[in-house]
Amino acid sequence: MEREVFKLFDLSGKTAVVTGAASGIGRATSLRLAEFGANVVLADININDAERVAEEIRNMGGEALPLKVDVTRVEDTKRMVENALNKFNKVDILVNCAGILSMKSATDLREGDIDKLMAVNFKGTIFCCQAFIPHMRERKSGKIVNIGSSLSSRASVCNLTGGGADYNASKAAVQSFTRSLAWELSAYGINVNAVAPGVTVTPMHKDTIEVAKSIFVPSIPLGRLAEPEDIANVVLFLVSDAASYVQGQTIHVNGGQIMVD
Ligand SMILES: NC(=O)c1ccc[n+]([C@@H]2O[C@H](COP(=O)([O-])OP(=O)(O)OC[C@H]3O[C@@H](n4cnc5c(N)ncnc54)[C@H](O)[C@@H]3O)[C@@H](O)[C@H]2O)c1
Repeated sequence: MEREVFKLFDLSGKTAVVTGAASGIGRATSLRLAEFGANVVLADININDAERVAEEIRNMGGEALPLKVDVTRVEDTKRMVENALNKFNKVDILVNCAGILSMKSATDLREGDIDKLMAVNFKGTIFCCQAFIPHMRERKSGKIVNIGSSLSSRASVCNLTGGGADYNASKAAVQSFTRSLAWELSAYGINVNAVAPGVTVTPMHKDTIEVAKSIFVPSIPLGRLAEPEDIANVVLFLVSDAASYVQGQTIHVNGGQIMVD
């Protein structure tokens, strides 16, 4: 029996742009969306690793376009749109995964630290959305998923070295921006949502993963940190037709570490 519901997740013929696609959650998301049929534009400042992910997708029989993009540079985001449209004619999905971590204590933060962090995590998310909105608005269709952070955005947690106030604020800002953008773009048939991961085993935590396990796992009901694929699966849901009526939400994927409505 062919199940109709499976078709809701079919991304064949769709184009997805994933920023931060070279590593961690962005890489896992790119692979997952390709597995479900999407052509994937892999936008990352690290072009060598983006090319490696493109090769993985081609080996699966999919199509991929790696692009060197610094999300803090508006001109790069404009070039990303041009290249994506030249190659695939349309863009249906944007997933903003590019991000950097900060570890400094709030009292030691310098203006330059804050500017650098906010430029990637917050302004970069806005610039990439702005780059694709005209195209999506014209087509009256699109799915945008931003990546927040489940603990950082809500709890008074410190990152692993006791700092990270600017990172935490940037992720709360991304989640707030997501709601405002969803409000503005609803009239154009564009869904805008966020996924807020709990601590996830990625290269972002390459030097701190063992410490992260010892600190966080005891307070995670499901008893483990997230794998990148746990996050990618929820992104897949949000960009699929199964989530057509989900709008302006942040879905927390944290193993139950924080449970609130
Ligand atoms: N790993 C976690 O525990 C965790 C938890 C919550 C949220 N997040 C968020 O998930 C997202 C992905 O993180 P990850 O853990 O996969 O990290 P990661 O370090 O593995 O990947 C981040 C990617 O972003 C790219 N990038 C950094 N600056 C960029 C720029 N200016 N322009 C374009 N690309 C840039 C990097 O090259 C890298 O490929 C981030 O936004 C992060 O804040 C991660």
